[in-house]
Amino acid sequence: MKDRVYFGTNTKMYQTAAQTVEYLRCLEKRTRDLADGIAQRFVIPSYTALYPARRQLDRMGSQILLGAQNMGWEEQGEYTGEISPLMLAEAGARLVMIGHSERRHTFHETDAQAEKKVRCALDHGFRVLLCVGEQAQERQYGVGAEVLRMQLKIGLHQVRAEETDRIWVGYEPVWAIGVGGVPAPTEYVEEKHRMMRETLMELFGQAGARIPLLYGGSVHLDNAGALIRCDAVDGLFVGRSAWDAARFDTIIRKALRAVL
Ligand code: 13P
Repeated sequence: MKDRVYFGTNTKMYQTAAQTVEYLRCLEKRTRDLADGIAQRFVIPSYTALYPARRQLDRMGSQILLGAQNMGWEEQGEYTGEISPLMLAEAGARLVMIGHSERRHTFHETDAQAEKKVRCALDHGFRVLLCVGEQAQERQYGVGAEVLRMQLKIGLHQVRAEETDRIWVGYEPVWAIGVGGVPAPTEYVEEKHRMMRETLMELFGQAGARIPLLYGGSVHLDNAGALIRCDAVDGLFVGRSAWDAARFDTIIRKALRAVL
């Protein structure tokens, strides 16, 4: 029995500000009744959507948590094209995602950069969703566990145990994400989540047992129930299948029915 279940989406580089506001309006209308239950909802839109999204959520009195897709590790400086924690806080983000697979592999971000970003995000009062995941070739070589442990140990290197109540971890195997992605088998997800839980406890003791571990990568209507039923899975982090509010609502309810 889980006492909290996490359901979120990252809209990647897809929805404009206007589309995000409309999406949030629909999602809140459909899922408002879940606000007092065990479900924690979150949405991570593009930077330019954050401020209008914040206003829309506040206007509706919504508890959907608003997140940013990335963040620079300095407050200001000569970092053209980056976004500062001050700017994200001003725009109304409460959560920052760090180390998404597309940041790591399309934009070549490193574990050491993730480490600096995690530290900086905590210093500015954000919750952090650190994403980790092994690539197909690393899985074939049988080094998935090593890759995940390294990403966790470096990314969370500067986090103190008493700060872990603001840390979430998203496990997104790179080969499972996006168009052409293959959803990870539930036994595989369970095995990797257990291993990551052990790593988190090695790093933070009992506090590591409470860090939410979310699965992402081709989550859809037909696999959401089985994935969330895994003991070691605390939430679902959904891309494409969540970008229609009605479909995301159905996924969330299906998953909740599977665990309640
Ligand atoms: P998909 O659900 O579209 O595979 O995307 C997952 C993801 O990357 C969420 O961050």
